[in-house]
Amino acid sequence: MSAATDPLGAAATWALLLGIRGAAQAAAAGLRSDGDAGGPDGPDGHPPRALSPAAAELAERYLPLCLAGPRVVFAQLGQSLDGFIATRTGDADYVTGEEDRRHLHRLRALADAVLVGAGTAVADDPRLTVRACAGPDPVRVVLDPQGRVPRTRWVFTDGAAPTLWVVGPGVVPERVGDGVEVLALPDRDAFAPGRLRAALAARGLGRVLVEGGGVTVSRFLRAGALDRLYLTVAPVLLGDGVPGLRFPGTPVMRRALRPPVRRCVLGEDTLFELELRAPGGGPDVADAV
Ligand SMILES: NC(=O)c1ccc[n+]([C@@H]2O[C@H](COP(=O)([O-])OP(=O)(O)OC[C@H]3O[C@@H](n4cnc5c(N)ncnc54)[C@H](OP(=O)(O)O)[C@@H]3O)[C@@H](O)[C@H]2O)c1
Repeated sequence: MSAATDPLGAAATWALLLGIRGAAQAAAAGLRSDGDAGGPDGPDGHPPRALSPAAAELAERYLPLCLAGPRVVFAQLGQSLDGFIATRTGDADYVTGEEDRRHLHRLRALADAVLVGAGTAVADDPRLTVRACAGPDPVRVVLDPQGRVPRTRWVFTDGAAPTLWVVGPGVVPERVGDGVEVLALPDRDAFAPGRLRAALAARGLGRVLVEGGGVTVSRFLRAGALDRLYLTVAPVLLGDGVPGLRFPGTPVMRRALRPPVRRCVLGEDTLFELELRAPGGGPDVADAV
């Protein structure tokens, strides 16, 4: 096989995916989300590329997110089979395996901003940077209405990426370092996920990864402010712990929320990708939760 027809490898395909934000770019790069090299001509006359199996897997998994547009909010949680995201002491180190960690870092690289709740910033002290794959660091957003996250956390001190510290009325955070901006919201209503989403988009942060924890992701889900949810289930039972998704739910099984889903295997874990809102608008998830 000549070099010109060699299938594209995973690293080169990931580099292409990082730059794709629209169908025309995907076509120009010769990438399709079904991972198939396709017929002789791709869309817009661009021939589809031949991809290695690993590269085809990446395109299939991430191209839909790349093509989801400039405003998309997606969440991730890694949970046990019985629905917990950490033990009862808050230990989440680690619920899911190495492949899911790589997947999480890829999601960060495809986001303008990565957002966590105060509980996660306190318990995990996450850095929220992209380290397990190539790609840019998103802006880090900490939702901290009471200003209870210690100033010593990595996101406030490491200078690795810009951080937006979102606090509530009356909170006077300690002096913050370079790269940390305090956004003081006027009241509790301004923390409504839909309003947060709009406020971030107004700052050019339209593609947002909500990285936990359970309370924060559940609030976005209940508010209908999530477009996509990546839920990785590890084959482990915790019996008790920090709950993942929580919402009032339905007394009637046939009214349960069953969004379109794609599944894939990540090592020992299973990733469920739930499409909560079809691009261009679809049924309002908030009606079902
Ligand atoms: N396995 C995983 O994927 C994963 C991911 C992340 C975290 N975790 C684990 O999950 C635990 C933390 O999760 P958690 O569910 O307890 O807490 P969390 O979601 O990290 O934080 C919840 C807190 O964030 C603030 N907050 C979030 N959304 C808000 C909104 N829309 N409006 C106002 N305030 C908002 C509130 O702070 P106040 O309470 O100060 O008002 C809220 O109580 C830790 O043990 C962590 O290790 C696991």
